[in-house]
Amino acid sequence: MTDKHLNLVLCGAGPAADAAVLIRLAQEQSWTVMVAATRAALNFIDTAELEQLSGNPVRTDYGNPPGSQRKVAPINALIIAPATYNTINKLALGIADTYVLTSVSEIIGRRVPTVIVPFVNAALAARRPFVASVESLRQEGVAVVLGQSSSWLPHEPGTGRLQQKRFPWEAALKQVDRGGGVGHPRK
Ligand SMILES: Cc1cc2nc3c(=O)[nH]c(=O)nc-3n(C[C@H](O)[C@H](O)[C@H](O)COP(=O)(O)O)c2cc1C
Repeated sequence: MTDKHLNLVLCGAGPAADAAVLIRLAQEQSWTVMVAATRAALNFIDTAELEQLSGNPVRTDYGNPPGSQRKVAPINALIIAPATYNTINKLALGIADTYVLTSVSEIIGRRVPTVIVPFVNAALAARRPFVASVESLRQEGVAVVLGQSSSWLPHEPGTGRLQQKRFPWEAALKQVDRGGGVGHPRK
């Protein structure tokens, strides 16, 4: 066991199938990894493989029965990758209608360094709600890996399979090492 705890949140997009890449990279750097998956992400992942690799259950729902005392897990960093159009927009608006959105909202509110790597096509990324969501999350201190500075750009619709192979797992982890979004809201 280490005292570096990383939460990895997977959303319903192709690169979720390759989440083992991030887990292995993180473990090589002495992170303990806990995985949470949205309901949509469950269709993309091999849950048993990720549980075996991480040594922890993949969480989609609240684990504790109603009325029981909730444990607040120690978390040193949060990576949401791949992050969907849906989750990014809901998160930015403060919608928390699932376990994953609620827990992620709380972790960001605790100012835990957070990195989001979107996986969206250019048509979705061009929508005003998405542009506003990315800006809003950055203003809250979240690192969103997207744009020319990160060399990670939205892909043309229909090219997701090619883009999936280039998913920047390593860049996400490097961003965590740089302090993630550091959690200080920008003025
Ligand atoms: C095969 C397939 C591929 C998808 N790929 C993407 C994607 O690359 N990016 C995205 O934002 N949504 C994608 N979606 C749509 C999301 O899965 C959908 O919006 C879902 O509601 C997202 O839920 P979540 O944000 O809770 O994970 C895809 C859906 C399917 C069925």
